[in-house]
Amino acid sequence: MSTARTLPFWQPLTPFNAAHFSRAIPPGDADIVVVGAGIAGLTTALCCAQEGRRVWVIDRQGAGEGETLRTTAHLASAIDDRFKKLAQWHGKDGARAAVESHAEAIDWIEDICASTPDRCGFRRVPAYLFSYDGKLDRLKDELEAAAEAGLDVSWQQEGIPGLPHLGPALRYEHQARVDMGRYLRTLAEACRANGVRFVLGEVTAVKGGERPELTVDGNTLHANAVVLATNVPFHERVAVHTKQAPYRTYVVAGPVDDGTLPDALIWDDGDPYHYVRLAEGEDGGRVAIVGGEDHKTGQDHDPRAYVRLQDWAREKLPGTSTFTYDWSGQILEPADGLAFIGADPGDEKNVYVVTGDSGNGITHGTLGGLIITDLIVGRPNRWAALYDPQRKQLRSPGGWLHENANVALQYRDWLSGGDVKDADLLAPGEGAVVRHGIHRVAVYRSAEGELHAHSARCPHLGCSVRWSPQEKSWDCPCHGSRFEAVTGRVLNGPASEPLAPWPRPASRDA
Ligand code: FES
Repeated sequence: MSTARTLPFWQPLTPFNAAHFSRAIPPGDADIVVVGAGIAGLTTALCCAQEGRRVWVIDRQGAGEGETLRTTAHLASAIDDRFKKLAQWHGKDGARAAVESHAEAIDWIEDICASTPDRCGFRRVPAYLFSYDGKLDRLKDELEAAAEAGLDVSWQQEGIPGLPHLGPALRYEHQARVDMGRYLRTLAEACRANGVRFVLGEVTAVKGGERPELTVDGNTLHANAVVLATNVPFHERVAVHTKQAPYRTYVVAGPVDDGTLPDALIWDDGDPYHYVRLAEGEDGGRVAIVGGEDHKTGQDHDPRAYVRLQDWAREKLPGTSTFTYDWSGQILEPADGLAFIGADPGDEKNVYVVTGDSGNGITHGTLGGLIITDLIVGRPNRWAALYDPQRKQLRSPGGWLHENANVALQYRDWLSGGDVKDADLLAPGEGAVVRHGIHRVAVYRSAEGELHAHSARCPHLGCSVRWSPQEKSWDCPCHGSRFEAVTGRVLNGPASEPLAPWPRPASRDA
């Protein structure tokens, strides 16, 4: 899988990608070029193609090779920032609109699923929120705020069915789950049936204008509109990156006996929080998917997330003992809880972005497709103002300032020594930053014992990258760019260029 070494539970789209993604640029011109073939990109492509537009989707590796299949695919209008906060940030009408728009996204997904015999594993389920520390005041506050936002929510004094030891909980109706691999494949096939063309290529630059320009593998393309659906935009350096923060999130999954856990979405209200849902395994049995242990990308101070997650699951969820999958993903936490969807905040004309998906990537990505299609075809969209990337109403200055101060602090790495004195100290499979005079060098020793060295300077805005032992990647603690250990190539933006190779020996023997 392209952005990390771990493999998620969902089936990848390898056969689709091999059959339908081509390095050849299709003949003629596209009306719309969508960059990124995940949930937001494919939804946008399908909606625009259904409007009669000629659409190309460009991805460097194929559909589902970014963050989409790293989701746990909770489909929730009870979105994961508390409604008490959302009402403060966006007003009561804004909180209500957030619920309605996410509910509309779930309905849209359900309609697509209805076209397949197995409904892509889509199922309506309830959701439960419980207190991580037994304190119920927060839940009571949230009950009131969620009901005011229009959710069908109730107090469950007896707790979650089958899990009464977790204490009283809030129950939300009309939520859903889906098999993300099957759903994305259905979406990709629907795109193809509507004439969408798929191109394998690396887009390194985008410039807005009457006919925006893209650089793809060194070639120049033009279209009437460009949509950047790449999890995080890479074409501008600052505008959106001060309004959102990158986090790694972790997931483990394993078989459970039928009836052990309720078929529901379950969260606690800790920070970071834990979440649970059921899925169907290939053998028809039940699989528990458990996530959490989030931390800012590149700022993992205790790299044992999977162990902690498994321990948490075994303690809280009877019947979970064996875990056959573990994987991580990248999410962008917006400063005010809602994604940034719409016209480019850097004023690049006819360029659109979808980012800041928070923990609701599948519904935010779907909304991205619905809203941007309306903007492109010139149709009013009642959610567009709420998600506008240029919105000025950010009423969460505390969180926003804190995140930006945190970014500024990361530059201190340039004043400190390396992680190890000498690359000779690295065992196979380990990476570390080594100081060479004024330079910092990111050195990785492969399983075969070979040393690979790159400048530790992140090509985005110059922070020093850090080693991730979880994914064996170089992660930037400032805006979340990630790089592959051997080649230095970009795994996650906003960087659009790889780490520079380090020309001098990184150790006495290198
Ligand atoms: Fe911005 Fe690295 S991602 S400096």
